[in-house]
Amino acid sequence: MTAYPQPRPGVLDITAYVPGKSNAPGLAKVFKLSSNETPLGPSPHAIAAYKAVAAHLEDYPDGSASELRQAIGRAFGLDPDRIVCGAGSDDLLNLLARAYLADGDEAIHTTHGFLVYPIATLATGAKPVVAAETNYTANVDAMLAAVTKKTKIVFLANPNNPTGTYISFDEVKRLHRGLPPHVLLVLDAAYAEYVRRNDYESGIELVATSENVVMTRTFSKIHGLAALRLGWLFGPAHVVAAINRIRGPFNVNAPAIAAGVAAIEDHEHQERSRDHNARWLAWLALEIEKLGLHVTPSVANFLLIHFPETKGRAAAEADAFLTARGLILRQVGAYKLPNALRMSVGTEEANRLVVAGLKEFLAKAA
Ligand SMILES: Cc1ncc(COP(=O)(O)O)c(C=O)c1O
Repeated sequence: MTAYPQPRPGVLDITAYVPGKSNAPGLAKVFKLSSNETPLGPSPHAIAAYKAVAAHLEDYPDGSASELRQAIGRAFGLDPDRIVCGAGSDDLLNLLARAYLADGDEAIHTTHGFLVYPIATLATGAKPVVAAETNYTANVDAMLAAVTKKTKIVFLANPNNPTGTYISFDEVKRLHRGLPPHVLLVLDAAYAEYVRRNDYESGIELVATSENVVMTRTFSKIHGLAALRLGWLFGPAHVVAAINRIRGPFNVNAPAIAAGVAAIEDHEHQERSRDHNARWLAWLALEIEKLGLHVTPSVANFLLIHFPETKGRAAAEADAFLTARGLILRQVGAYKLPNALRMSVGTEEANRLVVAGLKEFLAKAA
């Protein structure tokens, strides 16, 4: 027996999440393209709403985030009583794990799935089970084959981070049909707003018509409010009741609620972000492929760029080269992708600088 308190089994197996870098030493101007934030920033209305709350910082926020749930309900045609808000969708993913997993249970995610899933799973004492992907894309057959009597949650990021790939709504429904009714399917749709594919759905319909599906969303990406930590889930009434019992009573702060309401109502700003992304995502994929690097086709607001293992051309070396020029991408070794870098779609200036930087990097190595 050790002479000091021990965390529960699983906790020390966690590799702590390492966020994307945000600066480059010695450089005045940097372009942060490492955490999939929007280059356009938040809606000006959201900033104004956030600032207005400064006059009332002594007051606790509305613990049920009622105004925000109503605004989300109006925007998506959803019953606000079936929505829970959280301090980022990370908060909600962790709450779902805490509510539905215990020692010995299993939760499935895919090979390059979002890292919060295994972290949230291990923190409960449960075991993360990895389902193989095909071409960096979730494989429904592999996910269903991974289900055992111990499975309690299946996490699917659709589109997935860091790969940018997605599966069609038909495939999501096939996954759902193959799951036992007591298994909770968590559809993480953090990047749903960016997807422009006719066969894609974020999952709202599936949540509305079943008892074991939850969809999570975030204000950190299209809405540009990552600093405020704001997310929401839409789920069956019994899941909402469970999460409301264990969440922090004031898990969403007042400035976040105010900014969130303004952001979700600013359709023009969202459309501008979507248009900017569609234009530059396609441009970046094309220009980077022209340099001879492979880019995984992405439907989100970031790209996975693959590098050769050759010395002088490797992903880590490209990262160092770009960082020295103030261009901060994300190394994704923690996602079992040591030969790739993930790049968020940035401003026109940042995007052009990255392509020029990569060209110079590859020329230098030749
Ligand atoms: C797939 C996915 N889900 C959830 C999140 C968490 O977002 P937040 O906690 O900022 O809402 C992210 C952020 O990178 C993500 O990529």
